[in-house]
Amino acid sequence: MQQDMIVILDLGSKENTRVAREIRELGVYTEIHPHDITAEQLAALPNVKGIILNGGVNRVVDGVAIDASDAVYGAGVPLMAVDHKARKADVSLEAWPEDEVERTMALKRFVFDDCHAIANWNMDNFIADQIELIRQQVGDRKVLLALSGGVDSSVVAALLIRAIGDQLTCVHVNHGLLRKGEPEQVVQVFRDQLGANLIYVDAVDRFLNKLAGVADPEAKRKIIGAEFIRVFEEEARKLDGIQFLGQGTIYPDIVESGTKTAKMVKSHHNVGGLPEDLQFELVEPLKMLFKDEVRACGVALGLPDSMVYRQPFPGPGLGVRCLGAITRDRLEALREADAILRDEFDKAGLRGKVWQYFTVIPDFRSTGVRDNARCFEWPVILRAVNTVDAMTATVEQVAWPVLLKITDRILAEVKGVNRVLYDLSPKPVATIEWE
Ligand code: XMP
Repeated sequence: MQQDMIVILDLGSKENTRVAREIRELGVYTEIHPHDITAEQLAALPNVKGIILNGGVNRVVDGVAIDASDAVYGAGVPLMAVDHKARKADVSLEAWPEDEVERTMALKRFVFDDCHAIANWNMDNFIADQIELIRQQVGDRKVLLALSGGVDSSVVAALLIRAIGDQLTCVHVNHGLLRKGEPEQVVQVFRDQLGANLIYVDAVDRFLNKLAGVADPEAKRKIIGAEFIRVFEEEARKLDGIQFLGQGTIYPDIVESGTKTAKMVKSHHNVGGLPEDLQFELVEPLKMLFKDEVRACGVALGLPDSMVYRQPFPGPGLGVRCLGAITRDRLEALREADAILRDEFDKAGLRGKVWQYFTVIPDFRSTGVRDNARCFEWPVILRAVNTVDAMTATVEQVAWPVLLKITDRILAEVKGVNRVLYDLSPKPVATIEWE
């Protein structure tokens, strides 16, 4: 391994993730570990230069104040204790300074002056390390990866291609609920550009037949999820000698932000649903990265910006935006309208500035007039929101000319749509998606 590491021990702080990110921004690698890390676990971590005992609100568990183990106190590297009466610590803080500048200064002093860590955490070193680790883990065996075209699976694919080339097989399932151009982009980038061993599965009819007549949103989600596993499993069974499954697990998936102190690292086997007899070992090369680092990794691996800086897109895709029972005509109208919205947001410089924006098509029609005759067609709803954590959201105040341009284009270009609406509802009370 190339890089120095600062270990953050979770002694009940709510700020583990924030501190980890701040130190990484200084160019030094960090990992968050539970307070009861053993001597063996600590010894197995490479290049540990210092340890932060990150105390806080949950330092008392079941009435007993938790403390780091003797292994930590005897590790022989500088310790920094926060809100914690450490038995001995070179540096102690009552709490993390509120002031950003003071905070950064405190971290810098500890990381560079006390620990003498070198700021060598960067994507090139990360990629070099991971390539080596992947090769060690996989040897000459084979890896299977479900490649949705989302940021995480795309970056894992690009990294695995670098590391093991055609020992990797990617499976892209087109369930018919992706946005316009997405399946084509996956094939173009991974098969044509990166030379991946890519199996493209056209499962559109299969998904839409299963979904026919199903109006309940949760039932739709279940069908899409279950059918996806089934299709992927069928493809896996056709292949011989696969021992590993690549996964786009990222750090936030495995770190809880300090509330359940002793259970900070939760089990994260999101392979969930694959049958027992398909036994794979996992390859999860992004599991120590935050989302922005995953994007930086994707850029360093040469993936296009449109893939790396994609806005979040739900697993069930357009399925939960084509309200009620999905029909092909409404689904196509939705996909076209969504492409127009995205195109106009690009032209208005809003890509990357607005967190999530999309269209929704309801399952009712309204009266209009087209070519001097009465028409009875679908409305399309535009939605554009900003949020930090998707728990609450505010509506983007899109300029009228942009909204009017999108409206004009949808009404002129999308068959079967005679009305465009803008959703002004924040979350709460509304949710971001309509279903
Ligand atoms: P809501 O609608 O709950 O959405 O305010 C919050 C965020 O979650 C996304 N979302 C989903 N993502 N599977 C997903 O992978 C789903 O079933 C799902 N439903 C909502 C939504 O797009 C938003 O970013």
